[in-house]
Amino acid sequence: MNKRILSGINPSSSKGLHLGNYFGAVKEHVYFQQKGECFYFVANIHSLNTIFDPKAVEQNTMNVFTEFLAFGIDPEKTTFYVESDIPEITYLQTVLNNVVTVAELKRMHAYKDKLREDVSADAIGMGLFSYPVLMAADILLFNADIVPVGEDQAQHVEITREMARTFNNRYGEILKVPELYIKKETARVLGIDGERKMSKSLGNDIPVFADEKEIKRQIMAITTDPARVHPTDPGDPKKNVAFTYLELLGYDSAKLNEMKESYKKGTIGDVEIKNILFDIYMEYFADFRKRKEELLEKKDFIFELRKKGSERARTIAEITLQKVKQAVGLS
Ligand code: TRP
Repeated sequence: MNKRILSGINPSSSKGLHLGNYFGAVKEHVYFQQKGECFYFVANIHSLNTIFDPKAVEQNTMNVFTEFLAFGIDPEKTTFYVESDIPEITYLQTVLNNVVTVAELKRMHAYKDKLREDVSADAIGMGLFSYPVLMAADILLFNADIVPVGEDQAQHVEITREMARTFNNRYGEILKVPELYIKKETARVLGIDGERKMSKSLGNDIPVFADEKEIKRQIMAITTDPARVHPTDPGDPKKNVAFTYLELLGYDSAKLNEMKESYKKGTIGDVEIKNILFDIYMEYFADFRKRKEELLEKKDFIFELRKKGSERARTIAEITLQKVKQAVGLS
């Protein structure tokens, strides 16, 4: 049976997608298009809890939409849309608010992380608190079989499953309980600090579509083995995440091993490694970058794709929502 695969991306960054987004998610999304029936979308309603500038929300949404296309999301094969174009999602979210408890939502990492930063729980926005319910609506509305996400989102898919079960127990088998899928090795691409997951908000990302200078700046800022003061000091390749990136980018493994040996002996400098990485990086992403440039010339075409994708998504959304409304007594 053809499985339905669904995933979304929060367009919270104005710098666009980065290396971690690509290897942690988008690359696989592109590949899955041959494996099943895919539903991908830009989760712009999700971005409202961090971005308060309306222009930025609009721009980021179209920007990420365009970058997905540049990376090879095929809107013929895949239902590719924007969350806010599907009002059924927020309707379902409201219904789902009644199958989840405050206690369950308080256990979510994103909420707990926020609590650690903020003074009081009362100051946390409802949008952040209810983020997992919105995400559940995104998923359940489309009867997804499989939801591929990064590790940090696993808990949200778990609670989505919980909500679907609670709903079905109360009202009958209406919602499909989706499976969680995490690609272990690359789900978590480390940032240039070599410590935390690559993320725009941490500033430890290397953008894919930014201008060369910006990319170079981030590559040059990669944290390397701190014990190594001079290029002639022996270093530990494990403490230099540049090696990890080279591997991800498919750099020749014999050459890579040679470089690691030189690193251990102290016969290659960090700057030299970073220069090689920069070249490999630009080469790897050259075609994607070119495609984005070309797409940007065709704004109307992109809007047309967005409209078509959203229409296609809505026909399915309407069916599920109708069933849900009937089940709960709102039809
Ligand atoms: N919350 C996800 C993230 O921050 C994005 C997202 C929104 C999503 N809705 C989704 C992912 C539904 C998978 C399925 O990365």
